[in-house]
Amino acid sequence: MQTNLQPKLHVAIIMDGNGRWAEARGLPRPAGHEAGADSVRAVVRAAVEHQVTALSLYAFSTYNWRRPPAEVAGLMGLLRHFLMIEVPWLRDFGVRISVLGRRDRLPLGLARAIGHAERSTRDGRRLHLRIAIDYSARDAILAAAADHLTAEALAERLATEDVDLMIRTGGDQRLSDFLLWESAYAEFYFTEVKWPDFGPDEFAAALADYRSRTRSFGGVRPSPAGLTSAGNSPSA
Ligand code: IPE
Ligand code: IPE
Ligand code: MG
Repeated sequence: MQTNLQPKLHVAIIMDGNGRWAEARGLPRPAGHEAGADSVRAVVRAAVEHQVTALSLYAFSTYNWRRPPAEVAGLMGLLRHFLMIEVPWLRDFGVRISVLGRRDRLPLGLARAIGHAERSTRDGRRLHLRIAIDYSARDAILAAAADHLTAEALAERLATEDVDLMIRTGGDQRLSDFLLWESAYAEFYFTEVKWPDFGPDEFAAALADYRSRTRSFGGVRPSPAGLTSAGNSPSA
C-alpha cells in the first residue's frame, strides 16, 4: 500500500533474450543470465526514479524446469545470490520485495533467501518489487479460485494488481503464462532488445510510449486535446 499520493503504476517485464545475448558473444548461456542480473539492478533503480509503484519481473516460469539441469541450477544460484546481495540497498531504497510462484520445488537456500528478503523489506513503500519464480499465471489463478470467489477476492488472492504496462524483451510477442488475469487491460510493449542490453534508457522509452497512449477501458475515447467534444466517437 502506498502511503503517499503517488498514482499507482504497475509495470511487468518478461525478461527474455539472455541466452541469445550470450550465444551471440560466443559465451555460455549462464553468462547471459549473469548479465541479465545487472539489467535487473539498473531497471529497479530506474523504476523508482520514474515513480513506478509496482514492478513485476518474470524470472523463472514453471516451464523453465524443462531446461538442462546445469542451467536451472545456475539460475537458482543466481536468484539466491541476487536476493542475498541486493536486499540491503533495496531496503534502504524503500523497495518491498515479494516473490510470486511455488516455493516447494525450489532449493532450500533459495527458499530461505526469499523468506529473508520478504521479511527484511516488508516496510518498503516506494516500490513493490515482485519477482516471479517457478511461476505460472494459470496455476496462480487455479490456486486462487479454489473456493467460490468474487473477482475482487480472486484478485486479492493472486497477490498482485492490474498491470498497466507489460514489457517483453528479446523479440517474441507472447505472454508465456505471466500475469494473465492482471493483464486484462495492460498496454503491451515489445522490443527486440535482449534483456542484458535493456537499461534505464530503454525503460524510459517504454514508459514514454505508454504515457502517450489513450486508455479508455471500454469507455469512449477522450477527444484529442484542443478539440470540442462534438466529434466524440472512436477514431479508426
Ligand atoms: C530469459 O532469457 C531468462 C529466463 C527465461 C530464465 P532466456 O534464457 O529465455 O534467453 P533466450 O530466450 O534463450 O535468448
Ligand atoms: C519467459 O521466457 C519466461 C521468463 C522470462 C522467465 P522463456 O524464454 O521461457 O519463453 P517461452 O516460455 O519459451 O515463451
Ligand atoms: Mg527465452
